[in-house]
Amino acid sequence: MDKLSESHHRRDGSFRLFFGGLSMFCLGMIYLSCPTMDFTSLAELSVHKYPSSPLGALMHELPILQQPPAHKSADGILDITLRAQVARFTQGPVAFNTRTYNGMFPGPTLCVKPGDTLKITLVNDLLPDLPSEHLSMNTMRDPNTTNLHVHGMHVSPMGISDNVLRTVKSGESMVLTIKIPETHQLGAFHYHPHHHGSTFLQMGGGMVGIISVQDNIDQVDSLLVLQSFTFSGPMLGNHINASTLARSTLPLDLKLTHRNHKRMAELYPEYQPQFDATADNHPPFFIINGQYQPRIQLRNGERKLFQLINAGPTQMLELFIPGCTFEVLAKDAFPPSITTQE
Ligand SMILES: *[C@@H]1O[C@H](CO)[C@@H](O)[C@H](O)[C@H]1NC(C)=O
Ligand SMILES: *[C@@H]1O[C@H](CO)[C@@H](O)[C@H](O)[C@H]1NC(C)=O
Repeated sequence: MDKLSESHHRRDGSFRLFFGGLSMFCLGMIYLSCPTMDFTSLAELSVHKYPSSPLGALMHELPILQQPPAHKSADGILDITLRAQVARFTQGPVAFNTRTYNGMFPGPTLCVKPGDTLKITLVNDLLPDLPSEHLSMNTMRDPNTTNLHVHGMHVSPMGISDNVLRTVKSGESMVLTIKIPETHQLGAFHYHPHHHGSTFLQMGGGMVGIISVQDNIDQVDSLLVLQSFTFSGPMLGNHINASTLARSTLPLDLKLTHRNHKRMAELYPEYQPQFDATADNHPPFFIINGQYQPRIQLRNGERKLFQLINAGPTQMLELFIPGCTFEVLAKDAFPPSITTQE
């Protein structure tokens, strides 16, 4: 084994996949990215019929997967400013206003090495919360109070490091200085808000970004950052209820865009999205690296390494990659006990 793959096996902190391309396109991203779409009617349509099938035509219209913008450490330090800001997400089947890092979906990727120092200035550009009702810590509250946690990393929780008991209110800022041990495992981790009461609303609304720890900072694998947005249903998966209960006064302003669904219906008259397109029935959806239903193009026989991060608040995922096989190389810092095929 070369050094890189050996270190992946040894101490990788994320879930890695190899996609072995048997077909020209990996349809898996479509399955993965939209649980509300009914693809059963397309079952007999093989990806091998590409490019003559209507599905092939649709796939050509999907955006190519992009990587989130990355910031790399230099001389042992990565110094970055993250601002909690409102932005409108418009690229999915539902457009809505939400809280973000730097107006981005997801926030910027932070690339560091073991032994580096991560210096984050967190600025809260949100407007003030409503006057306190002295709600207890784990009640939905303080929609515009934030802080930052580096999820999965083995770093100090004390002082100005990964201390989730500090808070940043509207108009305030704070500096986090996080020393990454020399022995830190390699892989992809994520940062997100962790103020008790507003974590779900803020993270579930999109406030998340990746921290990639690699021996060689230029060796950043392809990231697949999955975020899910849900607007109705059980409270913990539900943005509308979380906003209401947290007494948020940010108007969500939900609008159905019908993105991709109209085109699907044109190509497949029998296609029925699993929601009726009324204004108060907003379908849940996933984005990958901030994109709705992006495509990955692989040559016949090509193998590609990905780091997959499920950065949604509650959803469990099952991966399907029709036409491709995949292999799990590492999962949460360990080689998997089971290797999954397909
Ligand atoms: C909010 O939660 C309540 C109670 O759990 C539920 O009855 C209601 O349907 C939810 N609202 C939405 C929009 O999901
Ligand atoms: C929070 O900030 C947003 C945007 O800055 C604002 O619309 C909202 O009114 C503020 N307050 C609350 C309680 O949500």
